[in-house]
This record gives sequence, C-alpha cells and structure tokens, in this order.
Amino acid sequence: MTAPTSSLFSHVPPYAGDPILSLMEAFQADPRPNKVSLSIGVYFDDEGRLPVLPSVRQAETALSQDIGARPYLPIEGIAEFRAAVQRLLFGAGHEAVASGRIATLQTLGGSGGLKVGADFLRRYFPGAGVWVSDPTWDNHRAIFEGAGLDVHSYPYYDPATGGLSFDRMLASLDALPPRSIVLLHASCHNPTGVDLSKTQWQALIPVLRERELIPFVDIAYQGFGDGLDEDACALRALADAGIQFFAANSFSKNFSMYGERCGGLSVVCSDRDAADTVLGQLKATVRRNYSTPPTHGARVITRVLNDPTLFALWRDETAAMRQRIRAMRERLLAVLDEKFQGRRDFGYLVRQRGMFSYTGLDESQVARLRDDHAVYLVRSGRMCLSGLTGANVDHVAQAMAAVLA
Ligand code: LMR
Repeated sequence: MTAPTSSLFSHVPPYAGDPILSLMEAFQADPRPNKVSLSIGVYFDDEGRLPVLPSVRQAETALSQDIGARPYLPIEGIAEFRAAVQRLLFGAGHEAVASGRIATLQTLGGSGGLKVGADFLRRYFPGAGVWVSDPTWDNHRAIFEGAGLDVHSYPYYDPATGGLSFDRMLASLDALPPRSIVLLHASCHNPTGVDLSKTQWQALIPVLRERELIPFVDIAYQGFGDGLDEDACALRALADAGIQFFAANSFSKNFSMYGERCGGLSVVCSDRDAADTVLGQLKATVRRNYSTPPTHGARVITRVLNDPTLFALWRDETAAMRQRIRAMRERLLAVLDEKFQGRRDFGYLVRQRGMFSYTGLDESQVARLRDDHAVYLVRSGRMCLSGLTGANVDHVAQAMAAVLA
C-alpha cells in the first residue's frame, strides 16, 4: 500500500465554524453544571428540556399503525402538506390560495426554502442583488452568496433605542434598483427581536411595489410572536396588495422538530398559470439539489395540520411556548431592574418579540459571560430567551449584572 505523499486538498482552507452551531458544540463539551445555553434558536421547556409536543406524539402514534412503504415523494412534496402550508401562511379563505396563484414546495426546513428560492432567483433574475437587514441571521448572507448572488444590507436595528430604524430602512429600500431582492422577516426578527408594526408594513408595501422590488420573506418563528395568524399578517398584507413574492417557512421551532428538516417555499404569483410555471422550475431546482424531500416529518406535520383536534392542540402548544418565553422576558427584566435600580434600561427585553433579544452586550462581555459564568450567547450579543428557565434566570441576571458592572 502506498500512502499519498501530499494532500490533494492542501489548497482547501479550514472551516472557521458556524457562529451559532459551533457554540452548541462548545456548550455540550462544557463540564460546568450551571451552564446555560442562550445561543441557538431552540425552544426549551421550563425544565430545560427539548419538548416533544403531545400533538406530534399523537400524530406519530397514529402514523405508526399505518406507516406503510416509503416511496420517493413527488419532487414538490406531499400535496396535503403543501396545501396546509398555504392555509397556515395565508389563511384558508385567502383569494391567493383559492385562485391557485401560489406555488408551494415542501422543503428541507426554512433553510432549504431559502436555498431553493435563491437558486431560482439566481437563474431567472441573474443581475439582481439581495438586500438583507443589518443585522440578519448569519446564514441568510451565506445562503444567498452561496447561490451566486451579491448580498448587501439595509439599515434596520437602532442600537440607541433597541428598536427599529424604520425611516432609514424605508429610505434605503426606496433607492434600490428595480427587481432587487429584499429579504424581510415576517415576525420575531432573528437576531434582534425587533419587528415592523402593522402600520410600518403598510408604509413599506407601496415602496416595494413602486420600486418593483422582489420581497423574500423568512417566517421561521410563526406562533412565537403574537399568534399563528398574527405572525403571518405581513404575508397576508403583501398578498392582499398584489405583490409577487417569496416566503420560506420553517416548522423546526413551532413543531419542536428541528432534526426532521421540515419547511416550505411559497411563491405568490400573478395567476394560476404563472404559479404552475414557477412550480415547475422550482421542482427542477430541487431535482438538481437533492432530488426529492424526505417523508417522515412531513407526514407527521401533515397529520397535525389536517386533523381539527390535533390542530387545536398544536395551536394551544404554540401559545404555551410563546407565553413561557414572554414570562421569561418579564422575569429577567424584573431581576435586572431590581439590580440596576434605574441605572440602565432593560425595557428592550419586553419590547422585542419571539425567541431573540439583542442585548447590546459586546463581544468581550459575551466572552466573559461564557468564560466566567457559563452563560452562552451568540457573539453579536443575541440572547435566545427560550433557554431561560425558572431555575436559571437569576443566575443569568447575576452574570449579566457582573459583566455590565
Ligand atoms: C438560530 O438562529 O439560532 C437558528 O435559526 C438555528 C440556526 O440554524 O442557526
């Protein structure tokens, strides 16, 4: 046997690691018993466990009786799953659903929807640039750049207020070339927790229309802001206004089914014929990427979304997760207010929505939280509030107070 004398891959640089997922690995390897993970966007219950939702368990039990063979699914996924995605995002009676002008695919999580949409846009809108909020989820940039598109950013977060820089955002989008792609977060903005109000969406929509921009909406936390319908109101407002746009949705968080990689990509078109054509080319994109989607998770979700009893149970489960996150926001605020006695404003904790808050902690403070107190946040200062529990919230508040002192 002759071992190679030099590597074929010597020009390949080492992977720097993902800023979010590598923290999960570091957290798992941390032996300290009081460690707290507030980095990755995953919902934990008050015992710090990843829940298996009873609606999911019941659907899986029922499915296990007649699970049957596992043929290849159609490229676009399970028909009942795709129809349920449209109802969930746009509302059952929405004109765009009824008229068949939405092309929907089952995808590998929300990320899969972003990737398939990005590949499609690169092919059919080759000169278009993508504009993402400053800041945005790190992987947005990576996915669109990976598809060969140029990625830029528009103003979004205002560190002075812990809120939205809406006027600057609007002015920046109002100056974009026609057919630029604008990545928007429907609700529970990742990483800041800062969302547009309904009135701000109504002010944004004419700019999108008049500048002929192509919105690409990411909806990964439906149910974690104000409710399943409320969190989708931006999608419905865009469709009502006759805007043609993309929406990638994820079921990872609201079904607590992260590893099943279930999500969808919906493209709202002008009419049924356009939607059929778009669906055909999206299928071609999927075939070129991973051929066809997997079965199990989508079967479970299809069952829950199509069974009125299971759906009602799941709706209540999403409400309970949302309320627990809110309670943790309030509890952390109360403990920090008590400690700081008005010397610092933590009100952003209850104004920001969904799983995440931008704490304003800088990189060195985040490093001290991790090294000295075993509390893990993302380097940007993003905190995932759903990792807080009744048992660890005081420890986290103490740790924050120590690094802010
Ligand atoms: C996050 O932002 O933490 C989640 O969306 C998980 C991920 O894949 O980054």
